[in-house]
Amino acid sequence: MTRMGCYGEHVLPRIINLACGLKTAEPLRRRVCEGLQGEVVEIGFGSGHNVPFYPATVDRVAAVEPSDVGWKLAGKRLEASGVTVDRTGLDGQSLPLPDNSRDSALTTWTLCTIPDVYAALREVRRVLKPGGKLHFLEHGLAPDEHVRRWQHRLEPVQKRVFGGCHLTRPVVNLLTTAGFTITDVDVFYEDGAPKFLGADSLGVAVSP
Ligand SMILES: C[S@@+](CC[C@H](N)C(=O)[O-])C[C@H]1O[C@@H](n2cnc3c(N)ncnc32)[C@H](O)[C@@H]1O
Repeated sequence: MTRMGCYGEHVLPRIINLACGLKTAEPLRRRVCEGLQGEVVEIGFGSGHNVPFYPATVDRVAAVEPSDVGWKLAGKRLEASGVTVDRTGLDGQSLPLPDNSRDSALTTWTLCTIPDVYAALREVRRVLKPGGKLHFLEHGLAPDEHVRRWQHRLEPVQKRVFGGCHLTRPVVNLLTTAGFTITDVDVFYEDGAPKFLGADSLGVAVSP
């Protein structure tokens, strides 16, 4: 195994598990999961930090996650949950789900990392029923120019260290360009995070 392979496969998922498991993220996770219902697909499931916040209106979740270590680290959260979660696919760019089969979709801090983000959004649109909702909580391009300058400077390092994570993806723009209608969005800097990393967009986008 290469050094990068070992880092990406074994070390990075554990770092992500710790970084994504911060208590400060919990109110945001609760907010983004509000209103999820029925059959759900979650892309970039990671180690399942959203699982405790799935509302009772969720019937079942198809979890899409490339990392075996991430999936393993989700074990305790999955055991403690009343919701059935099936690992369904390894790549948000190609979902092994039928067209128009999901009521809701969820993505948290994942659109930054998927290489072809438009392919992933096309896939989410394909599997959502007409009018189905994508709930999103994503970091991306900051609203302020001076923060953006730092994001552009730091992005190459961020991508190398954090498995391809971009700092400058314009979240709302991506979603509207991909054909979603945004019905609700809050753009803010996350408490306790450096601004270049914590420029978040939280909301709901409807598939046509
Ligand atoms: C920063 S983590 C966020 C994890 C989780 N969504 C959370 O909020 O705790 C980004 C996740 O995206 C996953 N990921 C990377 N490439 C992906 C792809 N092509 N399709 C789906 N998920 C991917 C990573 O393995 C990682 O678990």
